[in-house]
Amino acid sequence: MKSKLNWQQLFCDCKISIQAAIKHCLETMHEPQPDLGRGAGGDLMKPIDVAAENAIIETLQKSGVSFTLISEESGIKEVGSTPKDCYLCVDPIDGTTNLTHGLPFYCSSIAISDEPVLAAVYTGAVIDLVHDEIFSAYEGMGSYRDGRVIHTTNTQSLDEAVIGLDLNVYKAKMNLTIGAAFIENTKHTRHFGANALEVSYVAAGLTDAFVDLRNKIRTTDIAAGFLIAKEAGAIITDVDNKSINVPLDPKQTLNFIASANETLHKQLLGLIKS
Ligand code: IPD
Ligand code: CA
Repeated sequence: MKSKLNWQQLFCDCKISIQAAIKHCLETMHEPQPDLGRGAGGDLMKPIDVAAENAIIETLQKSGVSFTLISEESGIKEVGSTPKDCYLCVDPIDGTTNLTHGLPFYCSSIAISDEPVLAAVYTGAVIDLVHDEIFSAYEGMGSYRDGRVIHTTNTQSLDEAVIGLDLNVYKAKMNLTIGAAFIENTKHTRHFGANALEVSYVAAGLTDAFVDLRNKIRTTDIAAGFLIAKEAGAIITDVDNKSINVPLDPKQTLNFIASANETLHKQLLGLIKS
């Protein structure tokens, strides 16, 4: 059953508490960092990831929300007296490498669902921690950038389109021939390094597509971004043009193409077949 909470307000509260919680970590980022081991998603955890996750949990707990957390950092854990009320699929910091290098492009991603599967996500937010704004969506009610409605573009041509392509292929199994086809046939290729925010950029019409062919991105990174992009008009499928519905789990990975419109999507799928 969908919870009747004011998620917009809760996302704003989370933004404020995450920003406060990571302030000290940001200031001490140049100092040696303690070894916290690997998070549930398999990457090395940094104090800043843990601080952001704790801020989200504490904010919702204070508002009396019960939930099952599915996080890239601490994995699956039940919070509150009725933890099956909703599932919170979270990447506390998406773009940690950017953050630790002082590159101003990182965010927090929070997706809410009533079942632990991608297709059941009914609201979510991608919180841009650098530009201090929230991309959000509620199923059937459109997508918003700090309260203003956003839409995908109508860009039809690969010459004009700005296409995000995840180029972080380290230890992944991306078909490099297909990757080359994307780079050679799209004129403006980008990768900024925080996929949740990059998918939100497609939603907001800042870019025209985002493509991740690596089978490496986790559901925790993109669960909220997918809803935000879809509600803004994006078409999202896997590389075989199938709709994507996988379990929400820190270890669950996938590939996807998120396009601003049907025409562009067909052309991008065509590059895979060519
Ligand atoms: C990473 C970013 C990056 C992508 C990596 C992700 P993280 O998320 O989204 O753009 O290439 O695969 O792991 O590790 O900073 O949460
Ligand atoms: Ca992360």
